[in-house]
Amino acid sequence: MTLRIAVLPGDGIGPEVIAQATRVLRSVCSLSGQELRLSEHAIGGAALRHGDSPLPAKTLRACRDSDAVLLGAVGHPAFDAESPAQRPEAGLLGLRLALGGFANLRPAICHDSLAACSPLKSERVRGADILIVRELLAGLYYGTPRGADAREQSAWNTMRYTKADVVRVARVAFEQARMRRARVTSVDKANVLETSRLWRATVDEVHALYPDIALDHMFIDTCAMRLATDPRSFDVILTENLFGDILSDEAAAVTGSLGVLGSATLGGGVGIFEPVHGSAPDIAGRGVANPIGAIASAALLLRHAGRLDTEANEIERAIEDVLERGYRTRDLAIADESWITTAEMGEAIEHSMAESIDRRWAYHAV
Ligand code: IPM
Ligand code: MN
Repeated sequence: MTLRIAVLPGDGIGPEVIAQATRVLRSVCSLSGQELRLSEHAIGGAALRHGDSPLPAKTLRACRDSDAVLLGAVGHPAFDAESPAQRPEAGLLGLRLALGGFANLRPAICHDSLAACSPLKSERVRGADILIVRELLAGLYYGTPRGADAREQSAWNTMRYTKADVVRVARVAFEQARMRRARVTSVDKANVLETSRLWRATVDEVHALYPDIALDHMFIDTCAMRLATDPRSFDVILTENLFGDILSDEAAAVTGSLGVLGSATLGGGVGIFEPVHGSAPDIAGRGVANPIGAIASAALLLRHAGRLDTEANEIERAIEDVLERGYRTRDLAIADESWITTAEMGEAIEHSMAESIDRRWAYHAV
């Protein structure tokens, strides 16, 4: 069956990292005989520049008609002064809502070979393997009322959660924990917020269905601190939208680099797969962006949207291989270590895959 992917490069470094992700996707699928149909569409600032809305109707239609969405990044300072609806981010938030994926999975793994890149002592991070399950369709991002008064003297947002919002994402976290080390840490601010008290009580209720999983609750401030002092103590972190946004950047940085992490948004009709990093317009177009986050997202896409585990594993193995062999993009280079460009990293990963598949053929021929 053909796998149809809507590719949304977006802004800043989005297009250059996505070019490498599609190169690797095409390559692994042609090596394994999987048919692939990619179509490219505008979102965010890239759409606004063409006089479109940040989420053009034809882009949304194409996403709905696909098996998965592969997204680069959105956001550009050129639109900072615009109203919320005319900012690039509105495109991404609109797309998430329209496609309905409520569970955003953000794995933060400290590759052995990258432990030295972490700002923390290597012995504290080596072996850290965290999965953040971020609720993606409620909380402050979508709650109403929201707004600002005309004289810009006050502004307001609403953090709102229903029990149903919490139940569905909690189930995802417990299910994921079952495939890992069977521990969930649910993060909230139940000492202050009503939404967090609802969150905590609901997670406890859902937990009753998963007696094989260990659950603990942690306040967001404690969790932020613990991530920096003992990242290895976490397995699955389950949390609401804004807390998850913040903790995932922190988890990414402490495990080595924000540039190497991918994410999967599941639970809706069509999944969205995007790197955790942002659009980084300051470094766009210079070949210094790390494409591994986008390539790792492509692997997650193959696994979750295509049920192509072998191909996904092949990409993830190739990523580890090039890192072990010492290939570094600029963000990963320590001191005066030499580094390669965005495209060279994509090429190195592609070669590693081809080599390993060749080796397997040689083995079968014996
Ligand atoms: C992310 C990003 C987005 C978010 C922005 C670009 C709207 O930071 O995916 O983490 O806050 O969700
Ligand atoms: Mn973020």
